[in-house]
Amino acid sequence: MKRLSTLQLIPGMIVAENILTYDHQLVLSKGTVLTDKTITRLDLYGILTIYVEDSTPAPSGAPASAMEQPSYSERVINSPEFKRFRKEYQKGLESLKDTINNVVRRNMKLDVPALLQNCLDIIAGSRGQIGIIDMLWNMREYDDSTFAHCMNVALISNIFTTWLKWPKEDVEMATACGLLHDIGKLSVPYAILTKPGKLSAEEYEQIKRHPISGYQMLLAHNVDEHILYAALMHHERNDGTGYPMHLTGKQIDRFARVIAIADVYDAMTSSRVYRGPLCPFRVIEIFEAEGFQKYDVEYLLPFLENVVNTYIRNRCLLSDGRAGDIIYVNKSKLSRPIVQCGTEYVNLSECPDLAITRLL
Ligand SMILES: [Fe+2]
Ligand SMILES: [Fe+2]
Repeated sequence: MKRLSTLQLIPGMIVAENILTYDHQLVLSKGTVLTDKTITRLDLYGILTIYVEDSTPAPSGAPASAMEQPSYSERVINSPEFKRFRKEYQKGLESLKDTINNVVRRNMKLDVPALLQNCLDIIAGSRGQIGIIDMLWNMREYDDSTFAHCMNVALISNIFTTWLKWPKEDVEMATACGLLHDIGKLSVPYAILTKPGKLSAEEYEQIKRHPISGYQMLLAHNVDEHILYAALMHHERNDGTGYPMHLTGKQIDRFARVIAIADVYDAMTSSRVYRGPLCPFRVIEIFEAEGFQKYDVEYLLPFLENVVNTYIRNRCLLSDGRAGDIIYVNKSKLSRPIVQCGTEYVNLSECPDLAITRLL
């Protein structure tokens, strides 16, 4: 089988693996023969890549509208700044893996300042024109390991708390909390973490134990209490619907409240074994629909506003097949900006039937 971008799909190709949404709902099952209609459906679910059988027809090129000139994303990927970031990120990730594995498997001492410095160096080396959120978006196909997720959450939390104007020590603390928030996942069997299909009740219970396992691992290393609480509470939700303790509002440590948002944002915008990354505007729409009960509004609103602003220059594909540039953000409906398609301005806040399905 081969992995193809949905831009390369043509009717007649055969789906080689079940295609699921971020919340594990089946979109198309293995063996489905693709049609124009099912290819459009993949777009609507924000699915960017799928596996198809080798014996199916050769892929087409991208649509003409997307081929006219390099998109913003292509320009980012080809920039020296992004290439440098990717190299530094790779180096930092290897070091994070080694350190955490030594701590968890060989019982070595956890050196938080060294781990943090490694991550701060990546950020310090990326102070150019392209924001880190933008660069991470273009790294989304790169690695879906727990380590890469922790690195991403650390980088996002650093930028996020800078947007919140937290003092430098707190920005660094939030970064360290991000790096270590999912350390408990190392006690969950790899086969469960990467299972492409629906989890059984027992498997889901095992995953849900990772905040407590992480807290216990970190407790043995005498780390700052915010790091402990971020590991323990990052799946708690404002309205008490989270786990493991069903805490509400301010009972949840403020660093855990920040990590919770960065965590979900990274999980939804990154590629996973069971689905491609969701379009950031779809993620923002999901946050707008249910996030204000579940997350701290004082944090969520500035986060979403700043994230949307980072995508303002991007070209996007609309659900009716037109490509355009995102030129203006509607403050009252962040997931529905104004998009310029040729000479026409499409105000998505006034077009409920249209949506951004993909960044180009
Ligand atoms: Fe987690
Ligand atoms: Fe996480």
